Amino acid sequence: QSYTEKYRPQYHFTPKDNWMNDPNGLIYYNGVYHMFYQYNPGGNTWGAMSWGHATSRDMTHWKHQPVALQARGFPNNITEMFFSGTVVADEKNTSGFGSRKKAPLVAMYTSYYPMAQNLPSGKSVQKDQQAQSIAYSLDEGMTWTTYDAANPVILDPPSQYADQVKEFRDPSVFWHDATNKWVAVISLAKLHKLLVYTSSDLKTWKHESEFGPVNAVDGVWECPSFFPLAVDGNKRNVKWVAQIGLNPGGPPGTIGSGTQYVVGSFDGKKFTADANNVYPAPTTPKDSVIFQDFEKAGTFTDLGWNATGDFVGAGPANGPINGQQTVTGFSGERFVNTFLNGDATTGVLTSPSFKVTQKYINFLIGGGYNPGKTCVNLKVDGKVVRTATGTNNEKLSWTGWDVSAFQGLNAVIEIVDSLTGGWGHVNVDEISFSNTLAETQKANWMDYGPDFYAALSFNGLPSEDRIDIAWMNNWQYGQAIPTSPWRSAMSVPRTLSLKTINRKTTLVQEPIDNLKSLEKSRKYSRSWNSVQQGDQELDLSGKAMDITLTFSDRSPASGKSPQFGLVLRASADSKQQTRVGYDFTTKQLFVDRSASGEVGFDSTFPAVFYAPLSPGNDGTVTIRILVDWSSVEVFGGKGETSLTAQIFPSDDAVRARIFSTDGNTRNVKISASQIGSAWN
Ligand code: FRU
Repeated sequence: QSYTEKYRPQYHFTPKDNWMNDPNGLIYYNGVYHMFYQYNPGGNTWGAMSWGHATSRDMTHWKHQPVALQARGFPNNITEMFFSGTVVADEKNTSGFGSRKKAPLVAMYTSYYPMAQNLPSGKSVQKDQQAQSIAYSLDEGMTWTTYDAANPVILDPPSQYADQVKEFRDPSVFWHDATNKWVAVISLAKLHKLLVYTSSDLKTWKHESEFGPVNAVDGVWECPSFFPLAVDGNKRNVKWVAQIGLNPGGPPGTIGSGTQYVVGSFDGKKFTADANNVYPAPTTPKDSVIFQDFEKAGTFTDLGWNATGDFVGAGPANGPINGQQTVTGFSGERFVNTFLNGDATTGVLTSPSFKVTQKYINFLIGGGYNPGKTCVNLKVDGKVVRTATGTNNEKLSWTGWDVSAFQGLNAVIEIVDSLTGGWGHVNVDEISFSNTLAETQKANWMDYGPDFYAALSFNGLPSEDRIDIAWMNNWQYGQAIPTSPWRSAMSVPRTLSLKTINRKTTLVQEPIDNLKSLEKSRKYSRSWNSVQQGDQELDLSGKAMDITLTFSDRSPASGKSPQFGLVLRASADSKQQTRVGYDFTTKQLFVDRSASGEVGFDSTFPAVFYAPLSPGNDGTVTIRILVDWSSVEVFGGKGETSLTAQIFPSDDAVRARIFSTDGNTRNVKISASQIGSAWN
């Protein structure tokens, strides 16, 4: 296989075929980098979660290995799935799984049990329980034995969180030298809490402390990890970083998954955030609230609600929505469709009609239970003018939907439950209007783009070498991206460091140096004293490139909002293009993928994403762009900002242009190399 299918990333890791999500068990051991990952051996969407495996000597060229942990009972009778987790090398054989001479590799992962059962260990679990288990390998990761005698080694969350057994996952384990203990960080996903456990043998675990909620708390918290880093390279000033996935709840302007970090300290038992890394919750300006608690609005007719507020009647078929059935005209604070397997019925809750008088609409809507997808439409004069789709979690909130264009017009809001049909429910908590934009919760974002999730760093490297890999996809649309026979890629491995930038301890990310080994020899470089206003075609084209662009900051004249940057993956007629640039007014880096190619598989996909970026002290802005067959990964400045986005341009969209708007841009330099395939 040559790995040249349409959209196949050339230097970002992908499985040969089938579905992949989170990186798991990243470890460097005995000269080899191991990457395990969430994998469905049976298909191209999420399911039958197993651990795929690949190995590498440089994190650039990967060799696919046999599945490491295959869902128990795959394919027809799955009793246990292997959710996310990590791998450690048990050098001192604390677990007793190996010997002094032969260190075992030990994986700790979340066992997900699709049905209640009694386990060989004598423990019993309920349907949908998530618990933490271990497995070991005595042949350097090639084959694994689950520790059935005692799994799961952490059966339940602490008793005060007993009701969270179905939302308890993603252990990240590491050795803590100062206390001579193993540490595991595990998420109570819905409560936005990370639990810290310690152990001396990887088998018996003690709950020590918890961390969170803090800063960004939308959706669920998943795939947490802690790691140390020296600040500005000073080994006497080591801080700890908590890395946390949120879904849905990524950075402002994205919909779906995202990753935040918090800088603090860790003593082996407890993580404490630095005071300047804890941000107060903002208040949402509500100039007027409408529909607070839908049932109280009292304008809907109730159709068949049971005592707990669940809609139990079968809806009348009033015509198709998205090819499915619709029921209309009912309400309730809790709006529930109960439909049997395979019954693709969609419920629509329509608000009373109102006049748009203010600039923004804010939503706080819960629900959309798996496999449903909640969708909100704003209809003006009977036409859908704004739409947003949620994922399968409890809270969806949209703040600041700009509706100023519709002021004075009559509108309704429609809440569509279960775009995908099936069972689902929606909770409408509040819809409000405001003239000022709601502040968003401040947080430190690992990446400001939509496609950087479940980030994990390698165990087994010297502590100053911290390298992260993330899933370069998003739960919002991940299972619908137009790739086959595989789905999902990993980000490039990124070297992490902590640097003081503008007086703040900031996480800095740079693509690993090894990437250079894939560069083709002929380099492109060009410089201009001044790039004139307008667009110019560059003598540069390609589908896989590493580009660095530097230029002088501009101070915009009043009323102007100049931008400068590159148009990449452009077709001859420019109908397809991905714009990567800098906005001098807002001091933001941006990626515009609204016309990047195939964008129609999800309504939220075509969009522009922004990331803060200050010019360097000398007034120069630096942007590095890694383009691959279906992604752009953009690093700003020293790497204090990154923005990752998938794109699906056609094969012949290879052109590059440079643009400057509202005037000229000075001291421009561009250098670029073509990147070859990592599969050769
Ligand atoms: C995050 C996640 C994890 C879970 C895994 C299941 O993307 O939801 O929380 O362990 O995926 O595949």
